[in-house]
Amino acid sequence: MIKGLKAALGAAVVGLLAGTALSASPALAQNADDSDLVAKGAYVARLGDCVACHTALHGTAFAGGLQIKTPIGAIYSTNITPDPKTGIGSYTLEDFDKAVRHGIRKDGSALYPAMPYPSFARMSEDDIKALYAYFMHGVAPVDQPNKPADISWPLSMRWPLAFWGKMFAPAPKAFTPAPGTDPVVARGEYLVTGPGHCGACHTPRGFSMQEKAYDAAGGADFLGGGAPIDNWIAPSLRSDPVLGLGRWSEDDLVQFLRSGRIDHSAAFGGMADVVAWSTQYWSEDDLRATAKYLKSLPEVPKAKGDYTYDPSTAQALDAGKTAGMTGADVYVQQCAICHRNDGAAVDRMFPPLAGNPVVVSENPTSVAHIVAAGGVLPPTNWAPSAVAMPGYQKILNDQQVADVVNFIRTSWGNKAPANVTASDVSKLRQASQSVLDRRSWTDEPTSTSSWGLFGPQPYGEGWTFSPDTHAGVDNPQ
Ligand code: HEC
Ligand code: HEC
Ligand code: HEC
Repeated sequence: MIKGLKAALGAAVVGLLAGTALSASPALAQNADDSDLVAKGAYVARLGDCVACHTALHGTAFAGGLQIKTPIGAIYSTNITPDPKTGIGSYTLEDFDKAVRHGIRKDGSALYPAMPYPSFARMSEDDIKALYAYFMHGVAPVDQPNKPADISWPLSMRWPLAFWGKMFAPAPKAFTPAPGTDPVVARGEYLVTGPGHCGACHTPRGFSMQEKAYDAAGGADFLGGGAPIDNWIAPSLRSDPVLGLGRWSEDDLVQFLRSGRIDHSAAFGGMADVVAWSTQYWSEDDLRATAKYLKSLPEVPKAKGDYTYDPSTAQALDAGKTAGMTGADVYVQQCAICHRNDGAAVDRMFPPLAGNPVVVSENPTSVAHIVAAGGVLPPTNWAPSAVAMPGYQKILNDQQVADVVNFIRTSWGNKAPANVTASDVSKLRQASQSVLDRRSWTDEPTSTSSWGLFGPQPYGEGWTFSPDTHAGVDNPQ
């Protein structure tokens, strides 16, 4: 098989040498071990989480068709398997590079920035070459035509996107660290700002949806916490001790990105997917570099004080004194069994609510959303159990959800505003239902019981995160 692969790759390389700028360095053809290159590309694809967006629900990996909703209509990710008709089989390395780093399709039209090409623009040529080798020779072709976007004219015209790209996306330029940067920190910066595209969710967006900063030179906005995406909010990854990672150690970060859970936090919403599809596969060195880089970011001014645990909430709950504490009764009846009276929960099983940056983030959407819709801690090779939080949309009414969310935002020393209203929750219900649908990873209907969330998670044919089939190595197809 490797032999066939080499022959195929050889042929492709000859084709490339015929006339693309990128192939000017012939290292690929002569001395690189082709199967190593494909393997490297598979790893780079993990760094970039290509599979997360390019796989439809229950679809085949990389065959595209995932619906991505935008304010002007839905778009669909495309087939990036090497099928010559429906996929990218006819793409040269240069075509591929144009799409991935420049946001321009083979036919010359611009891509929607749902494809995080503004971050991928920083990727190195070596990584792009490896990615290309992987998509051409490590991924099986799948015949699946792309779905056209459901956006009506005139908004469907793609030329404004090219204009957008020129105005807002950084000019593609492979990342180079500032002189004198520690090489480990530099690697971390490359991973976070380039292939890892962490800012796509964690950096706030400006008036026309562009990320406000693509690296630390952009000031406090960079990784300063994003706007809601699918009603999940990616919090600040800066050093604020209350709202950000100020109280996280490097080890915490490595452990969180690899297993989705640490003593004081658990991945959910969009981050659960990132951990399940991408960061759990990153090498120890790369996780450590990421952690070092995030911890090295300059302090954002205006930390809003520090967090101190306040034992009076637990004392009141232990003594059954909930009178006058709105939402406390609901908490005791529904939540305390897992999250405990002291809000400190159970290490690595149930995340604490006390002092948790996610719980006190300024915009409470995520918190209300997880209470309404529930969540599943992604099972990873490092922590194989899928622990779930039930959704409460059928058990609690809007006012009760609002009350309990306001309660956890203001208890145990948490000092967030108690600003969730019943009408906010009612708006989330619609969205939460679709999240529940999305999460119906088993074929059983989940609508009758939120505990259906416990199902394993096949993200499409050939994809499962069940630990039996994934003993540390993953074979997507
Ligand atoms: C956050 C979601 C997301 C991620 C992550 C992502 N893509 Fe995409 N990608 C898209 C969407 C959506 C489109 C189609 C955009 C459009 O139609 O304008 C696309 C388009 C493309 C295209 C253009 C295909 C064509 O029809 O010309 C290529 C090639 C591509 N992606 C490769 C990749 C690779 C390689 C990775 C990983 C390094 C990746 N993508 C990661 C969402 C994503
Ligand atoms: C698809 C959107 C998305 C992307 C991409 C993403 N994140 Fe997240 N992230 C989230 C959301 C939503 C949360 C909040 C839920 C949670 O804590 O798990 C989060 C939470 C986190 C947390 C925990 C913060 C806290 O205070 O609890 C860390 C650490 C983190 N992300 C790091 C990263 C890194 C590093 C990357 C890039 C490799 C990344 N994220 C990419 C959406 C995303
Ligand atoms: C059966 C145990 C259980 C019960 C009952 C429960 N939770 Fe959870 N909760 C969890 C688990 C497990 C997670 C992690 C889910 C994930 O990461 O997707 C979680 C996560 C959360 C989070 C996000 C924190 C983070 O860092 O991940 C919040 C907020 C939360 N729960 C609030 C509540 C509230 C409020 C109630 C009661 C209305 C409640 N929970 C009831 C188990 C539970």
